[in-house]
Amino acid sequence: MSDKLNVLLLGSGGREAAIAWKLNQSPLLGKLFIAPGNAGTSACGTNLPIKPTDFEAVAKAVKDNAVDLVIAGNEDPLVGGLREALAVSCPGVPMVGPGADGAALEGSKDFAKDFMGRHGIPTARHLTATKENIEEARDFLRSLEAPYVLKADGLAAGKGVLIINDLDEAISSLDEMLAGQFGAASAKVVIEEFLSGIECSVFVLTDGTGAYRILPVAKDYKRVGEGDTGLNTGGMGSVSPVPFADKTFMDKVEKRIVKPTVNGLIAEGIDYRGFIFLGLINVKGEPMVIEYNVRMGDPETEVVMPRIASDLLPALMAVANGKLSDIAIEQDPRTAVAVMAVSGGYPGSYAKGKVINGLDTVEGIVFHAGTAKDDEGRTVTSGGRVLATVAFGDNIAEAAAASYAMLDGISFDGKYNRRDIGKDLM
Ligand code: AMP
Ligand code: GLY
Repeated sequence: MSDKLNVLLLGSGGREAAIAWKLNQSPLLGKLFIAPGNAGTSACGTNLPIKPTDFEAVAKAVKDNAVDLVIAGNEDPLVGGLREALAVSCPGVPMVGPGADGAALEGSKDFAKDFMGRHGIPTARHLTATKENIEEARDFLRSLEAPYVLKADGLAAGKGVLIINDLDEAISSLDEMLAGQFGAASAKVVIEEFLSGIECSVFVLTDGTGAYRILPVAKDYKRVGEGDTGLNTGGMGSVSPVPFADKTFMDKVEKRIVKPTVNGLIAEGIDYRGFIFLGLINVKGEPMVIEYNVRMGDPETEVVMPRIASDLLPALMAVANGKLSDIAIEQDPRTAVAVMAVSGGYPGSYAKGKVINGLDTVEGIVFHAGTAKDDEGRTVTSGGRVLATVAFGDNIAEAAAASYAMLDGISFDGKYNRRDIGKDLM
């Protein structure tokens, strides 16, 4: 057996491109496989044409390639029980990503809210509505002030949250959701008090023993339009660090949210080994949880990975093996800004297959997201979010200017990007 580690990373977005880039710098890395990956990840390892939710194919890839570590990039396979499946088909192979019990923190907003309630973690007041308690749910809505927040309980591809200004409209939207607007995902609907403040994303690694490490904090930009207007997207850019997430704020986050979350998982018998993504909102200096995710954020990962100064591979191996207390994670003090270029029309309908120019001449970090190779070997667009340029600076203005200079050198038919990433924090 070699002392180098073969790694299988599951996913295909900019997040996985950033994780692959980081792992590829590790002197401990043997072979890196990305399943399915994109046109950019093939520069860091071998892409395998496998769906992360096809557990048999994942298990076969683990065995065929003598994989020493499996890393789940996205939530779907985790919520569906990937850890449990691999424990049977590939026993003893370490994995980063919780079992279905822990993944319920993202897979069920009702579970997540109850978990926070059980462990005294600050979050918006809520009530979970079903067809059975609809009258109580309407009364709860009437007791709140506008705007009204309605969330499908289950996974809804990022579309399951509605924020509605009018009470009557909120009541009828609740009915539509319960009637199946998001399929089974909205058979339960979490109604929440609206919280006002600036959001940020805090990422935690934990190993099932109570040890945890907090990774660089980031902020993403979800709306398609400048000044945070227009439709919600998967994310148009990101910044790390976040100026308001200073020591005072982060001390509160650690004490009130990170520790009770990690300890709460242990108290409930959940062996959670993986990333915890805390979607937080700063309400007048007090951090509150908007949501948990059981993976890294996208496009936050595109700025978090470059800001991790330590080797990530031993840290992830330690997460999987319950040895995180042996590991220190250093952060690069510089600021990183990622700007995402998207296909015109996104998040609505958009064209695919557009040739991307300028990739050979651009200098710096480019993370591919929705890209593929065409029959002639050219890199073409294959998704809404196409790629992100990432640059460092001594402050947000410098890093953003450098990231925009890179992105301006890349072109494809219909390319669009916001020009104000980070501006609200300057
Ligand atoms: P989620 O899918 O839970 O992250 O919700 C999507 C977005 O809706 C969040 O990133 C917030 O911008 C917003 N949101 C969710 N819950 C609340 C809330 N209780 N108050 C204010 N905004 C919210
Ligand atoms: N950027 C937010 C997310 O990944 O859910």
